[in-house]
Amino acid sequence: MKSVLRTRRSLIDLDDIAEDELHEVFARATAFDRSRPEKRLSGVACVNLFFEPSTRTFTSFNLAEIRLGAELVNLTPKDLSYINKGETIEDTVVTLAAMGVSVLVIRHPEEGFPRSVAAHFDGHVVNAGDGTNAHPTQALLDLYTMLREFETLQGRTVAIVGDVLHSRVAHSLIAGLQRLSAGTVLVGPPAFVPEEYATEGVRVSRDLDAVLPSVDVVVLLRIQRERFAAMPLADEEYVARYRLNAERLALLPSQAVVMHPGPYNRGVELDESVLRFAGWRYAQQVVYGVSVRMAVLDFLVNGT
Ligand code: NCD
Repeated sequence: MKSVLRTRRSLIDLDDIAEDELHEVFARATAFDRSRPEKRLSGVACVNLFFEPSTRTFTSFNLAEIRLGAELVNLTPKDLSYINKGETIEDTVVTLAAMGVSVLVIRHPEEGFPRSVAAHFDGHVVNAGDGTNAHPTQALLDLYTMLREFETLQGRTVAIVGDVLHSRVAHSLIAGLQRLSAGTVLVGPPAFVPEEYATEGVRVSRDLDAVLPSVDVVVLLRIQRERFAAMPLADEEYVARYRLNAERLALLPSQAVVMHPGPYNRGVELDESVLRFAGWRYAQQVVYGVSVRMAVLDFLVNGT
């Protein structure tokens, strides 16, 4: 699998990036972490199109674009005439391309929306999250955070805990972990972690306490309540079985780290002891998020 990202010119999911490109992006992120880059997107017009609320991802893309010197426009649904004046999204993106926009960063509640936009846009599309489908830059920053911790993920085990079914973060991360030959264990009740997720390198467990002693990384997920009608089990039962707390942290091996894509819900998937845990890497993920997004944008626009 060679140069997929360069050929497709867009990052919609992890399939759009070959393993060598993944490492190229990570190397570039490391360089950006070490020193402020030259303005490698100088004169490049980027539009961020966010159809869903976002704090981290939106700010992170904005900072990445600003730090690379891009020309930057942020559009929200209320600014888009295609929504209330009968234009199609296809015509909107053709208009943006005619104005010289070369990068579109899109978050949308509908699965597949960024991919369909990419088919009509003569430029680069970066998926910032589409429904429950994919969130590739979050997966890349999560993998990068793990690699900064462990150098290689071969022989390492990553537990992803919680609402995997509705999590685009988890879907992209599972694909990335497979690509880097990490062992993955998905932990949660059947309604959030269906048995069908088990596949090559990926197993399913219902028992967090049994899993913790042999993992290197725990990725906690928020219950995505906005994506389903009724909680499939009692909140108390979920908390009793799956909330990470001081007793459960004590089961982890000493080098293990805990991550979360944010936003995290105190008292649900974690309690305050996790926020004070020496291996809590949430802030580090946010820091690396900016440099990884800079690296993705630079790679898409400027190549190798
Ligand atoms: C998530 C998202 O929006 O997909 N957050 C993020 O982008 N860092 C996860 C969530 O909403 O729980």
